[in-house]
Amino acid sequence: MKTPIDVAVTGAAGQISYQLLFRLAAGNFLGNDQPVILHLLEIPSAMDALKGIIMELNDCASPLLHRIEITDDPMVAFKNVDFAFLIGAKPRGPGMERRDLLADNANIFAHQGKALNAVARRDVKILVTGNPANTNALIAMHNAPDLKPENFSAMSRLDHNRGLAQLAEKCGVLPLDVKNMIIWGNHSTSQYPDLHHTKVKGQDALSLVDQRWFEQQFIPTVQDRGTAIIKARGQSSAGSAAHAALDQMRNWVQGTEAGDWVSMGVRSDGSYGIKKGLVYSFPVTIENGKVSIVQGLTINKFSAERMKASENELKEEREAVKHLLG
Ligand code: NAD
Ligand code: LMR
Repeated sequence: MKTPIDVAVTGAAGQISYQLLFRLAAGNFLGNDQPVILHLLEIPSAMDALKGIIMELNDCASPLLHRIEITDDPMVAFKNVDFAFLIGAKPRGPGMERRDLLADNANIFAHQGKALNAVARRDVKILVTGNPANTNALIAMHNAPDLKPENFSAMSRLDHNRGLAQLAEKCGVLPLDVKNMIIWGNHSTSQYPDLHHTKVKGQDALSLVDQRWFEQQFIPTVQDRGTAIIKARGQSSAGSAAHAALDQMRNWVQGTEAGDWVSMGVRSDGSYGIKKGLVYSFPVTIENGKVSIVQGLTINKFSAERMKASENELKEEREAVKHLLG
């Protein structure tokens, strides 16, 4: 057995965490020889519900689950953690955009950024899922000056997976036959799911589908999938969100496949003309835990306009929280 890893999960009594925690305990993150210690953060009013979840986790008698610690103090939750899944935040309801959550959620990430800065391991990997994820990641990053920006990422893997699934269904293949999907920008309706570099069984995706489907079906379906799920189930996505969080964190540790990449919200270094410092979703490759933005992709006018629109939205969000950025 390996040395246990310390994994923090915030919003541990919420609906995404309910899908995530049992999978962490079952070895779905880094394999069934990797024990875990769970550090669960909640607000005081959710502690009773969390205690019920802990009873259930213990009732799984998982050989990998070495310990569970619960707290309402981020300074305790993040102490020496290797991984932090920042999920705890208010979700949107019908008729809202994710950016409408900033007023309620931004302070959470300022506070948690400071705590991570103070007590987490210096090589901690922090995945921000709570919405609006990109700008919350930006806030947490700015409040953790002793950590590197590379310690942080925002979740765009759910959008990436949605793109894989939509294209695979259209082409009558499996999602694993689709490579080089890209989500550019914000985890919002301004995101740009781009098929110009995507391959299906080695063939250019855009040679297999018509431009009308790409523009009028694919792009809006991926952009608006979160809204469609809220409309259908009355609550935002949870199972697919937990799955995407595991996918994104796992790739961050284990790397990307040769010839493929994943989409990840990371601090822009100015690649593709995107304003340096914004947390923006790019195609990335990962090796030995190091994330590199894929360089040299040809961007046509259609793509450039959409990438810019999402960048502009992120600039507006950044402006709205500038008081939290130090
Ligand atoms: P939920 O309401 O079921 O659970 C959120 C939990 O967070 C609650 O138990 C709440 O008590 C807790 N919480 C609130 N403030 C906290 C704090 N300061 N510290 C610790 N815990 C706190 O919501 P959910 O459905 O699990 O969604 C969580 C967040 O994830 C929402 O913001 C949602 O919009 C977002 N989300 C993002 C994606 C994505 O792709 N990035 C996908 C799905 C959902
Ligand atoms: C999603 O994309 O499913 C989540 O961000 C939840 C939401 O608000 O749409």
